[in-house]
Amino acid sequence: MVVAEGPSESSRTSSLPSFKVMEILGRAIDLENAGHKVCHLQVGQPKSGAPKKVLKSAELHLRTNRLGYTNSQGIEPLRKRIARNYAERYLKQEGGTEVPLQVNPDNIIVTTGSSGAFLLTFLAAFNVGDVVCIASSGYPCYRNILNTLGCDVVSVPVNDQFKVTAVELSAVVKRLARQRKKVKGLILSSPSNPTGAMLSPAELKALCEYCDKNGITFISDEIYHHISYGQSEASALSFSDNVVVINSFSKYYSMTGWRLGWMVAPASLVPALNRLSQNFYLNAPTLSQLAAIEAFDCREELDKHVATYAVNRAVLLAALKDLGLQKVSPADGAFYIYADVSDDLEDAVTFARDLLEQAHVAVTPGIDFEDPASGLGRKRLRFSYCGATEEITEAMKRLKTFWATYPGRKNKN
Ligand SMILES: Cc1ncc(COP(=O)(O)O)c(C=O)c1O
Repeated sequence: MVVAEGPSESSRTSSLPSFKVMEILGRAIDLENAGHKVCHLQVGQPKSGAPKKVLKSAELHLRTNRLGYTNSQGIEPLRKRIARNYAERYLKQEGGTEVPLQVNPDNIIVTTGSSGAFLLTFLAAFNVGDVVCIASSGYPCYRNILNTLGCDVVSVPVNDQFKVTAVELSAVVKRLARQRKKVKGLILSSPSNPTGAMLSPAELKALCEYCDKNGITFISDEIYHHISYGQSEASALSFSDNVVVINSFSKYYSMTGWRLGWMVAPASLVPALNRLSQNFYLNAPTLSQLAAIEAFDCREELDKHVATYAVNRAVLLAALKDLGLQKVSPADGAFYIYADVSDDLEDAVTFARDLLEQAHVAVTPGIDFEDPASGLGRKRLRFSYCGATEEITEAMKRLKTFWATYPGRKNKN
């Protein structure tokens, strides 16, 4: 008798790990559906919705626009508005003076979130077997997508400030050169998820220059730009014409579910990126593209969200300090605090599970973000603080009570 087992999956996906944050989110939603009040500190999803002007524009377009396919590269008014935003927000050195950063709308490609941009960029820029570097503590999907595409992913250990600078990258490039391997690409996010660490403009410039000099394609994930707490930020576009910059409407613009992002790519990659997007998804969601044009004119509303994150960050830092958790990452930008809990806890993964199941507080263990070979994932926890201040405060209250009696603690006193 033939047993119907269904088609088997490809060898490409059989070793693809899940994105743990999404699994924890799924379990948190199950608990909520069962009637529990869950505090969500696991996912980087702003509590606020899209800005009001975006919603108004979307309503209008729903009524008046047939919402057909668009140009694969993205509608021109949106690409022009994105280009204008670079001139409004960033500067570039030209002949000894600082001038607004000019970006050609022809180099902008609108994508289905930054996630869509990663896939297109990796496919356009890298071949199977190419060595691509990532930070040892970083966003897990870089590693997972690159591995699925057959790239050779190499972790660059972050320095004691949780950063990868030209210094850390060059050490890895030299080590690999001894094995006759050449680094083809680098992808980093600054501000970083999960650490919040930010490269200073000078560090970013040095990194861009190093990559240019060594023929390394630098992909700068700038999704957390405009969410920072006193540090200055720069775009890699200010320092090199060879970088690929990726950004999204998900974080600062508070539009996660609209699935919209963009990239700015060198002219040499644009035709390939366009052919890929034409074949892969035809175009990014039309309604989102039309409405997102308004997002750039909502700075007052969006900066209020950032002010709330700053309050939440202070609440969280104070609460962790109160528990004796002092080993935390810099948290200069984005909306995450990454804490090393190994002095106090046997295992961060078990703790995160127990905290969710028993106290209904969802946080993410480091296993998502760390090089699997390092073992650091079981020592670290990431707290996301883009929710409402009341939710963060309530979560810290529950954490304190849970912590006091938790049996998995090493140094209970
Ligand atoms: C560093 C980083 N890049 C990219 C993404 C993906 O965002 P999206 O596809 O919604 O633009 C995330 C999501 O959390 C992230 O943290």
